[in-house]
Amino acid sequence: MQSVGVIGAGQMGAGIAQVSAQAGYHVLLADVSKERADAGKSGIAAQLARAVSKEKITAEVADQTLARIETIEGPSAMGKCGLIIEAATEREEIKRAIFAEVGKVLGTTAVLASNTSSIPITRLAQATPDAKRFIGVHFFNPVPVMGLIEIIRGLATSDETVTLIETYAAALGKQVVRANDAPGFIVNRILMPMLNEACFALGEGVATIRDIDLACQLGLNHPMGPLTLADFIGLDTCLEITRVLFEGTGDPKFRPAPLLVKYVEAGWYGRKAGRGFYDYSGAEPVPTR
Ligand code: 3HC
Repeated sequence: MQSVGVIGAGQMGAGIAQVSAQAGYHVLLADVSKERADAGKSGIAAQLARAVSKEKITAEVADQTLARIETIEGPSAMGKCGLIIEAATEREEIKRAIFAEVGKVLGTTAVLASNTSSIPITRLAQATPDAKRFIGVHFFNPVPVMGLIEIIRGLATSDETVTLIETYAAALGKQVVRANDAPGFIVNRILMPMLNEACFALGEGVATIRDIDLACQLGLNHPMGPLTLADFIGLDTCLEITRVLFEGTGDPKFRPAPLLVKYVEAGWYGRKAGRGFYDYSGAEPVPTR
């Protein structure tokens, strides 16, 4: 496999495109418009420039990596890709519409993967051209830094499809864990209740934003406190995944914290919105409570 198609040039898609190109794959990076795909590529260029300035990679390697990324509008030119990864918005109807487009061009042996963080793979597979060649590949943010890929097989996913993804992950230098197609898979099943609990603790007045985050950073050695991490992931995304856990299991222990719901209703989605538990309008994030 020489070419990888990535659909969605946002934070996750751009990260996947970057690490794929760094591993030597030719990458077709698509979004709803060429401009959006170009914006994703500009972000990658900035990341690579940062790595060059820190002397992690040479300017030549950065140029070669960028040259391997071709931006396009939509997936129609991805017919030669051995692997197409969908990393679009976490909405099922959007993903289904993309799979219908991919179905028109997917090669006869190519694999289609979704970076969904929570939608069941077996259900999504029904919208794809071939359920045997469909699989979940869950990357973590920031993709270039995080060493893990969760692989989720649907009921019909073939062994060949799993092997192709394991080979690809190894080329990227990522470790793989295999999860069953259960709500939240492994990481989000464990992470989201912790972030949700931090929202309950804040809402119930247990402690301030600063102290909840500092407690987990210094008391648990977490790189980010839970409220900082929730802002980083996006509070809308956290709520969506928590709802998947709640509805998928029927277990009340996963019920979303009222404060998390309120923040999302207010449009305070976290870092990307400039406001979440922290205010990001200044040079440094400032806790809002
Ligand atoms: N892209 C590429 N590299 C980045 C980056 C980015 N967006 N952000 C940071 N980095 C790199 C820096 O270049 C630096 O590299 P170096 O050590 O080689 O110089 C390194 O990461 C550390 O960065 P900083 O010194 O700027 O900052 P921190 O030490 O605070 O680290 C962090 C930043 C790596 C993001 C760290 O805080 C962390 O690991 N946080 C937790 C992240 C996490 O839990 N992610 C998983 C989220 S869950 C998920 O994605 C699943 C989804 O379904 C919700």
